[in-house]
Formats: sequence, structure tokens, C-alpha cells
Amino acid sequence: MVYYRKYRKRFLHGGIFLKEREKFASRIGFILISAGCAIGLGNVYRFPIITGAYGGAAFVLIYIAFLVLLGLPVMTAELAVGRGSQRSIASSFNVLERPGQKWHFMKYLGIAGNYLLMMFYTTISGWMALYFLKYLTGAMEGISGAEALGGVFGSMVVNTPLMIVASTAVILICFGVCSLGLQNGVEKITKVMMVLLFVLMVGLAVYSCTLPNAAEGLKFYLVPSMKHIREAGIWTVISAAMGQSFFTLSLGIGAIAIFGSYIDKNRRLMGESITIICLDTFVALMSGLIIFPACFTYNNGVTADAGSVGAGFLFTTLSAIFNAMPGGRIVGTLFFLFMIFAALSTVIAVFENIMSFWLELTKLSRRQVALVNIVLMTVLSLPCILSLNAWSGVTVFGKGFMDLEDYIVSNLLLPLGSLFYVLFCVTRYGWGWKNYTAEANEGKGLKVPGWWRPYMTYMLPVIIIAVLIMSAF
Ligand code: ALA
Repeated sequence: MVYYRKYRKRFLHGGIFLKEREKFASRIGFILISAGCAIGLGNVYRFPIITGAYGGAAFVLIYIAFLVLLGLPVMTAELAVGRGSQRSIASSFNVLERPGQKWHFMKYLGIAGNYLLMMFYTTISGWMALYFLKYLTGAMEGISGAEALGGVFGSMVVNTPLMIVASTAVILICFGVCSLGLQNGVEKITKVMMVLLFVLMVGLAVYSCTLPNAAEGLKFYLVPSMKHIREAGIWTVISAAMGQSFFTLSLGIGAIAIFGSYIDKNRRLMGESITIICLDTFVALMSGLIIFPACFTYNNGVTADAGSVGAGFLFTTLSAIFNAMPGGRIVGTLFFLFMIFAALSTVIAVFENIMSFWLELTKLSRRQVALVNIVLMTVLSLPCILSLNAWSGVTVFGKGFMDLEDYIVSNLLLPLGSLFYVLFCVTRYGWGWKNYTAEANEGKGLKVPGWWRPYMTYMLPVIIIAVLIMSAF
């Protein structure tokens, strides 16, 4: 009987093991988990820093324009491929392409992209967890001055054993959640985390907006000024906005497509994509509401400048701000807890995607896949950790491993993968417009508009190729 059940679940289809596919328990689960995949360090960490560096409100407008122009069609395409194939990127193209076509080679780009993203993302998530503990235990109290705070951060990241423990803890927790299953682990836990993230975020934003110089911070953030754009350079700003729109939505590597494969056909995919993008943008905008009023109250309006876009800002500048404000220990603790929820919601979502590759390509069970990947991911995170200390002199194309991994994913794989998704959906040499729109438009809600066809066929690929060229060099 046991044998029969096991056997029934697995049959071979073109070298791919098809098992009964779990589905989300609810639509809200799908929305929150997809949004959780998108909402991450890109929103709460990268977005405010880039916005500060590249001109405040004017940058925000350009960024939102790219979310609509690039993010929306690519996300709809990814979800359609996921739902149409009922597979992850590891086999979705095998299922949808016609015999003899080669789109399935996309799986290598997707698999590499997911692993590479996590190879540095788990390390930064570990930093967030350690700073949360520092604030919670009061270890940051009484430390002031850029040099002393820079020292705290610097000595933490070169402590290789501590870095390994922190990132391994992140890996263990997140694969642990995935090993419990889609509904019992990923959906249940991410839902709770996302609700807590929204509550913390609104509380912190309200507090920040009541600080003495909040109005000036809000002006910088919300009133567009061409002066800042000119200072940063228009092409630099446009390229940063385009890159950020891919990164924040985790597009191009199948990280979003997988969640399309876990839903039914009750809703059209355009409306679902708009909801996910709005949630993602809301969190990014709220992070700015937390950070800029604080910078203008306690840091003389210095947010970040183009030369200092980097980790230092969050861990030194913001720490200085928390340490200067009344109740800073509590605000710092809650802020880093907010960061942890954002980071872990992405890690769990990407790990779920990685799990599904293995479930489709091997005969292993969820638990076995989790165990193998805990070991694999821990080993893969080592180059990034070591590049902060023992391997700090080792560079490839002039970059240390952490920057190199970030560069390959953010500047090359995300735009390249997005380009393939779009081409697959529009060209008759791929899945084609008819199949794509039939899938995306099934159910209730907003339809993919007809005018998207010429736009997605002729303009969008050109824009993405421009992003690729601009961000690659
Ligand atoms: N979309 C993820 C983030 O914004 C990668 O952090």
C-alpha cells in the first residue's frame, strides 16, 4: 500500500518527475508569499539608500515608471509560465515548449540565479539578525561617533566563525520552514511574518514622521527636484532605477513564476501582478518614510551620497541615528526586526523555489531536499563570507566574491532571464502570444490589454537589452 502510494505520486515525463502538486490554501496566501518574495532587502535597504544617493523624489518617480513599464509585463509573463506549466523554472520550459525547441536551457540560468542570490543574501540576512540581537541586548548603547560605529560593523563582518554561524542559522531556519511543506510551512509562517512586517513598518514610519525635522526629510523624499538628478547624472539614475525594479520584484529567475504554479485559475494574472507590485512598492516607500525624517533630524540631512551607497549606511549611519534619539534602543530593535522579516520572507520564497527544482528533477522527498540544501547552501555561502576577511584580496574582474555574486545576479541574470520570459511569451518560436494571453486572462480580474502585444514584442525587449548593456558595463 505504501509502495503503491509512493509509486502513484511519481511518474516520469520527459525525464522530469511529476508529483502531486501542493497548492496554496488561500488567495491571500499566494499574494502575501509572492509579495514576501519581492519584498526584501531590496526594498528596506537598497531602495532608501539608492533614493538618498540619486535624488530623492525624482528618483522615486523614475523608479515607479520602470515598475509599470518593465515589472508588470515581466511579472505577468512569469506567473503565466508558472501557472501554465504547473512547474518551477527547472522544468516549466520543458513542458510548454514545442518538440525540438531549446527554451529549456533557461533552467540553468534560473537555477544559477537563485543559488547565486542566496549566496550573499543569507550573509546579509545574518548581519540583520546580529544587529537585532545587539540592539535587543543593549550592546549598542553608549557607542557613538562614525568611527566607533564603523568599528562595530567592521569587526563583526571580519569575524568569520560568527558570520558562518549567523548565515547557517538563517539557512537552517528557512529550509526548516520549507521542509514543513508549502501550506504548513511556507504559507503559514510567511503570512504571519508579513503581517508583523506591515505592523512594525507603519509604527516605525509614524514615529519617524513625528521627529522634529521630519518635514525637511519628507520634502527631500516627496518633492521632486531635478537638481539632485543632474548632480547624480541622468543615465546613472535611470540605470539604477531600472536595475532596482528587476531586483525588488525578483524577476527573471523564476522566483515569482513558482508561485504561479501553486494557484488555481480563478483570477487573471495581470490583476494579481498589480497587487503584488503595489505591496512591494508600498513597503519600499514606507522604508523611506522611516529613514529620511530620521536622517534629517539626527544626521543633518545626510542620507547617502552616490559615493557611499553600501552597507555602511545602514549599519553605521542609522545606528548613529538610533543611538542619538530618545528610545533609540527600542526603535533600533524594532527596525532590525522589520529588516529580518523582510529578508527572511525572500529567503524562504527563494528556498521554496530551489526545493521545487529538486523535487521535479530528483526522486528525493521535501525533507531530504532540505537536508541536502542546508549543507550545499552553507558551503556556497562561504566565498561571500570569506571575501570579507581571509579572501579580501581575491578578486575576479576587479570584484570580491560578495560584489561579484551581486553583480552577476542583479546586473546580468535578472534582466537576461526577464528578456527570455518576455520573448518566450510573445514569439511564435516560443509559447506565443495566444497561449500566453489565454493563460494570463483566465479567471476574473484585469485582462492583459491588446496593445501590450506590440509593446511586449518590439519595445520591451529593446528596453531590457538597454538595461543589460547599461548595467553590465
Ligand atoms: N526581491 C528581493 C529583494 O527585494 C530580492 O530583496
